[in-house]
Amino acid sequence: MARLSEDGGIGDVMISEAELVERVRVLGEEITTAYEGRRPLLICVLKGAYVFATDLARSVDLPLEIDFIALSSYGSSTQTSGVVRLVKDLDSDIAGRDVVLVEDIIDSGLTLRYLRRSLEARSPASLEVVSLLARERADLESLQVRWCGFRIPDDFVIGYGLDVDQRYRNLRYLARYEPDADPLHQQRVEGVAAR
Ligand code: IMP
Ligand code: MG
Repeated sequence: MARLSEDGGIGDVMISEAELVERVRVLGEEITTAYEGRRPLLICVLKGAYVFATDLARSVDLPLEIDFIALSSYGSSTQTSGVVRLVKDLDSDIAGRDVVLVEDIIDSGLTLRYLRRSLEARSPASLEVVSLLARERADLESLQVRWCGFRIPDDFVIGYGLDVDQRYRNLRYLARYEPDADPLHQQRVEGVAAR
């Protein structure tokens, strides 16, 4: 298989490139207004939020800084195990800073709870969360998510930074994942069956 656009694992468009551009522009304006006169520190949660964070940062009309934190959760390709592990910590000291945590998707909220605990312990002046996506069933009020791009159903999504087994991050839009039409997924299933 040569082209990403021919990959069977890529299902229906869930959120188009145009919708993403427009929503990110609006979120950028809201963050600009909220932090007027300040210099926020954006923290991008790797790897899933990297595309969103780069677009969002360029939509914020303020001087700002960006740092990165990486987590991994053990589990299969589309199912989290519930165990979160810090893989790469921040380079910067966030004490006294206005921190904006940039997430890709709030599913169970476990990752976010873990991150909030870890970051709040470092005494930032403020801590707000912006997530590109959140499941419809996620309680954004109790999770204290200030900005959310889109609420989505339970379908597994790929593209715009989000992956399955590290693939599809460079897709320009968000699509439903079709495991039954993904040749690599099929190979794995058959490999397990043959053992
Ligand atoms: P939570 O800890 O259950 O909220 O899971 C959040 C993490 O699970 C996200 O940061 C993603 O890395 C991953 N995740 C959850 N749903 C999806 C999806 O539909 N596509 C890609 N990654 C997902
Ligand atoms: Mg992820």
